[in-house]
Amino acid sequence: MATSKPKAKRPAVKAKATKPKAAARGRKPAPKRPTKAAPAASAASGATTDIESVLNERRIFAPSASFAAKAHVPSIAKHKALSKRAVENPEAFWGEMAKNVDWIKPWKKVLDWKPPFARWFDGGLLNLSANCVDRHAATWRKNKAAIVWEGEPGDERVLTYGDLLREVSRFANVLKSLGVEKGDRVAIYMPMIPELPIALLACTRIGATHSVIFGGFSAEALRDRINDAQATAVITADGGWRRGAEVALKPQVDAAISGAPSVRHVVVVKRTGTAIHMEPGRDHWWHDLVEGASPNCPPEPVESEHPLFILYTSGTTGKPKGVVHTTGGYLVQTTLTTKWVFDLKEKDVFFCTADVGWVTGHSYVVYGPLANGATVVMYEGAPKHADPARFWKIIEKHRVTIFYTAPTAIRAFMKWGAEWPRKYDLSSLRLLGTVGEPINPEAWMWYRREIGADRCPIVDTWWQTETGAIMITPLPGAVPTKPGSGTLPFPGIVPEVVTRDGDPVPAGSGGLLVIRKPWPGMLRTIHGDPERYKQQYWSQIPGTYFTGDGARCDKDGYFWIMGRVDDVINVAGHRLGTMEIESALVSHTRVAEAAVVPRPDDLKGQAVVAFVTLESGYHADPALKDELKRHVVKEIGAIARPDEIRFSDALPKTRSGKIMRRLLRDIASGKQSIGDTTTLEDLSVLAKLREEEE
Ligand code: PRX
Repeated sequence: MATSKPKAKRPAVKAKATKPKAAARGRKPAPKRPTKAAPAASAASGATTDIESVLNERRIFAPSASFAAKAHVPSIAKHKALSKRAVENPEAFWGEMAKNVDWIKPWKKVLDWKPPFARWFDGGLLNLSANCVDRHAATWRKNKAAIVWEGEPGDERVLTYGDLLREVSRFANVLKSLGVEKGDRVAIYMPMIPELPIALLACTRIGATHSVIFGGFSAEALRDRINDAQATAVITADGGWRRGAEVALKPQVDAAISGAPSVRHVVVVKRTGTAIHMEPGRDHWWHDLVEGASPNCPPEPVESEHPLFILYTSGTTGKPKGVVHTTGGYLVQTTLTTKWVFDLKEKDVFFCTADVGWVTGHSYVVYGPLANGATVVMYEGAPKHADPARFWKIIEKHRVTIFYTAPTAIRAFMKWGAEWPRKYDLSSLRLLGTVGEPINPEAWMWYRREIGADRCPIVDTWWQTETGAIMITPLPGAVPTKPGSGTLPFPGIVPEVVTRDGDPVPAGSGGLLVIRKPWPGMLRTIHGDPERYKQQYWSQIPGTYFTGDGARCDKDGYFWIMGRVDDVINVAGHRLGTMEIESALVSHTRVAEAAVVPRPDDLKGQAVVAFVTLESGYHADPALKDELKRHVVKEIGAIARPDEIRFSDALPKTRSGKIMRRLLRDIASGKQSIGDTTTLEDLSVLAKLREEEE
């Protein structure tokens, strides 16, 4: 599935020109399903070496007696009992768990399941900001720190639950004054500053649906997402700080909005103080509006199934998918998983390093911890600024007890050296977590030893933007951990490893990871495209949710995730659709055809390798490689920058014209022996690609 274009010159707005094509492809993949699974199987078998290294992993770490004694779920027996009850009667289990949440009106039915459409806690009314703020501000927690924030330059702010209630209410009134109503979409494009969670919570207070777009995305990507969501307001900042430099945000918003007619208002936080353009009538300073706003704003009761947020994620087509989450079920699962997986207690100080632009930030910087009344540490900038000890300084200074980060960050810490964490007092830590990609056992052991002092349990949590909350994970007081394994399903979650036809595979064999039963935090649809929702997630094995991941389950029932089996690359814990990067490349005037594949990377997990065929008359030169990399950054954002670009006169194709990505993957990762090439149309193409390599 490479992206190619006819030889005719492209129209002026080139990125756009590629999109409808990709979108159309996304909408009618029905006949492709069987072949779609083929790379799945081959990816699974292609990953044999990775799996074997993990297979040889025999170490096992049981929870310490002292940790288990105080844990919410204190033993494997209790875990088994909970899971058994949850599987036998999911509705009774989730109904009971929903009592962790405050309902304005109780639900009538726990689950209404018309596959693949679910309604959880139907008939119930609640308000999310009331759950995350008011219910704590009404108790002694009014003066408890809700958010302890540190800016990259070293500035600090602490907001108590009382402060948060005031600020959220004021900003909710601001939104109302701008005409934002229940059900309207609000785009949020901000740095990691306290106004970001305040903006999210203010939206939920009035029933507006937020769509956070990661601040690293380009103006083009922002525009596409604003248009898809038809957002009426954008909340942003002049800029933010990262690696000691200012990341400009407002200029990107200006560029995006020039092609986004739905936007009526832009609210701008002054963060860096840099000069920016303010469009009269449309753009407003946050501080001006908030100053005059009342601190009283009663939370709007919304239905359990009211859309809470849209979060765009990459799929196998060039068109980003707006994953829709709703209120009640999402809140129930994020609240419960935060409590059990992180064994959250009143005095904990919870530091999740994810940006709120990703789902991890939504669920475990904002909603899960705040719903539990926890103290959250939030940091604006890069982990290496001003030196590689920044996180360790933060942990020491704020006495962080729970630290949740990504394997890619852990591998970077390893590379920078253990001397950095060793300089700081990390004795406040009692639990470590990872998320975003498979963690290699070596990194897991380093994390345990150097950060956790061989004392803190590690929770390797598997989940996705689509699942909303953690799905496969140890519960730290109950489940013995094996380095590299996400261990067991969270109670009530029913994953399975199956063949392409949906049949279970024997213990220890690789296959596709599916989820057999609906769960409260599941996505409800793709914004504006229920057909794509059905196609993408529920058609591979009808009635069963397909995750897009390969996995194996060992004889102890432990899950080992093998990575994506579709055309999605996981770079530094972030999913990128290869098709999106290909579309961006092909939108460059000199590019005729592009295929993007992953290559294993020590630091980032996977690196992006692009095979590019040029339009005739253009020459492959090193300067063009840099130009193409910059072009992708402009079109999508820095996260999608190809690590390597290889020019080639032709790409390996089957006789029916399909790019043989499997071969490209092998070439990109420098494999000497290449698998089956019998269906290759022109063998000489391979030889040429290899020459290029040398
Ligand atoms: O491939 C899996 C990987 O990240 C994908 C989900 O990416 P995203 O929607 O961006 O959400 C990331 C944060 C939840 C999954 O399909 N992944 C996530 N966590 C793990 C993981 N792979 C292995 N182990 C994990 N713990």
